[in-house]
Amino acid sequence: MNKKQIIYLAIAAVAAVGLALLFIKPSPAHETSMTMPTTSQAMASPANDHSVVIANYKFSPTPLKVKKGTTVTWTNTDVARHNIVADDGQPAGGPSGPLFGKGETYQFTFNTVGTYSYHCEPHPYMHGKIEVTE
Ligand code: CO
Repeated sequence: MNKKQIIYLAIAAVAAVGLALLFIKPSPAHETSMTMPTTSQAMASPANDHSVVIANYKFSPTPLKVKKGTTVTWTNTDVARHNIVADDGQPAGGPSGPLFGKGETYQFTFNTVGTYSYHCEPHPYMHGKIEVTE
């Protein structure tokens, strides 16, 4: 083996180790980046951040259980405009918002314990429920 061959071998060995590291490294890094959002979300949600998605003229999730003082955000993914209005006979302090379109949100903070049934005014068959506890 001459000097040139040894250098080539050395380069090949370094490259092989480098490649091996490339293949080994992504999985732990990926796992870390996967757990990070979950962790920050878990830290943010207990206090006062909950979401309801409107898709295909349906609220999800429903019922949604939250603690008093929670701000609920509804996000509309439909082309149709929807709104959030407490049904008749609900506890005082329920939501009653304007129509909002695709990609828009409506927020309401529930400061009073109770079960709030709500609907969408243009589509009265759209029903949702928020259960607010201490
Ligand atoms: Co609607």
